Amino acid sequence: MSNKLKKNSPLPLRVGIAGLGTVGASLVGMLQKSGNELQRKHGRRIEVAAVSARSRSRDRGVDISQYAWHDDPVALAKSDDVDLFVELIGGEDGPALAAVRAALSAGKPVVTANKALLAKHGVDLAELAEQTGTHIGFEAAVAGGIPVIKTLREGLGAASVTRVYGIMNGTCNYILTRMGEEDISFGDCLTDAQALGYAEADPTFDVEGFDTAHKLAILASLCFQTKIAADEIFVEGITAITQADIKVAADLGYKIKLLGIAQRSGGGIEQRVHPTLVPRTSAIARVDNVLNAVSLETDHIQELMLAGPGAGGPATAASVLADILDIARGHNVPPLGIPTSELADYSRAPMRVHKGGYYIRLNVRDVPGALAAITTRVGESGISLESVIQRPDLKAPASIADQGETRTLVLITQDTTESSVRKALDQVADDGYTVGAPQLIRIESF
Ligand SMILES: NC(=O)c1ccc[n+]([C@@H]2O[C@H](COP(=O)([O-])OP(=O)(O)OC[C@H]3O[C@@H](n4cnc5c(N)ncnc54)[C@H](OP(=O)(O)O)[C@@H]3O)[C@@H](O)[C@H]2O)c1
Repeated sequence: MSNKLKKNSPLPLRVGIAGLGTVGASLVGMLQKSGNELQRKHGRRIEVAAVSARSRSRDRGVDISQYAWHDDPVALAKSDDVDLFVELIGGEDGPALAAVRAALSAGKPVVTANKALLAKHGVDLAELAEQTGTHIGFEAAVAGGIPVIKTLREGLGAASVTRVYGIMNGTCNYILTRMGEEDISFGDCLTDAQALGYAEADPTFDVEGFDTAHKLAILASLCFQTKIAADEIFVEGITAITQADIKVAADLGYKIKLLGIAQRSGGGIEQRVHPTLVPRTSAIARVDNVLNAVSLETDHIQELMLAGPGAGGPATAASVLADILDIARGHNVPPLGIPTSELADYSRAPMRVHKGGYYIRLNVRDVPGALAAITTRVGESGISLESVIQRPDLKAPASIADQGETRTLVLITQDTTESSVRKALDQVADDGYTVGAPQLIRIESF
């Protein structure tokens, strides 16, 4: 370090880190390795002052013996030796919430990667930060290593977002990519993903779409200046996607991706997470495996897409560190982009008014007149069909194998409403020409 830099340097920023798992240990390693370089580049030393986790003795691949230890993350958050509190424990309530509240109440800035916490308490925590004149940074909470929060809050500060959509769960993207490349079932693919460490032992949160929903709720608030409304999201996961869907979609020029999408619609805002047919040629279709991407459509710059690693220790810790550096430099913007008092109440646009194209796969009884009866019912509901595809080569799912001979029929609709599709499918089911539940996948146009 040069003498000039030493003389003019402000006091070090003393950081307390609670949670030393995948992200926390990466962050400690990064600060140990790059501390001097970061000080040279950003003008202030970042020092780890204290840490907390459940087990003090666990080998984490980094040396933590030099830091003060706290069993209780709340005590760490309140410690006089800590200027900034980093929460990397996880969970929407419990010790994470208690410690973040304690730090903010004491006027200390917080950095967290915890989307569950933000989705549930984000507005309250941002309000508390405003009241005590401090900040909460959460870049890492949405799409891990992709700087989408800063982009929205600052880079697009002058723009008006009309739609945000993205692939925000690496586990689901990995599974759908593999299913598209190999003739492998959802279940087998999930087992592989677990063996490779891409999926949790309990994958429900990821594959049922809830993780994406948490991230979408945070993004929607920043995009549309509304209160975070994580309970107001239409959520469908990927567990029902079959090889038949993947193959038919591919033949029609589509890929299936789990998207989180929010847009202004009618009198409110649509927030939805569901498997989606996206044109093979679209940029989002090319985001494969564990990668994430978020696309922002705005009035002035049309579309901006950010793609990159959505998870993993180093990528996520790099986003946490970027927030810490912003705070170290005194950079402060309202956590949710505008003061919380200016956030509008969220008004939900009901899913039944959603407009778009639909992919409908039916298992149709092999009886004369079935096809004509089904297409008539669809027409009676005011739906125009773009294509009708019969795929006798695609076998019915094992769950309905004992219900007689069936054929796979796929209908692709032109733009219509969710309520028209639901009405048509109810009538088709009542007519008795189909077996099992229909598969319905929404088509997104870009
Ligand atoms: N992993 C990723 O790729 C990723 C990506 C984006 C965001 N995030 C978010 O980052 C956060 C951390 O994720 P992670 O993957 O690093 O989790 P993790 O590997 O499970 O680590 C959690 C850490 O919290 C500690 N902990 C648990 N309960 C505690 C308590 N009561 N007091 C103090 N420490 C406690 C654990 O201690 P022990 O080690 O002693 O058990 C562990 O060190 C989560 O909010 C997650 O959603 C993670």
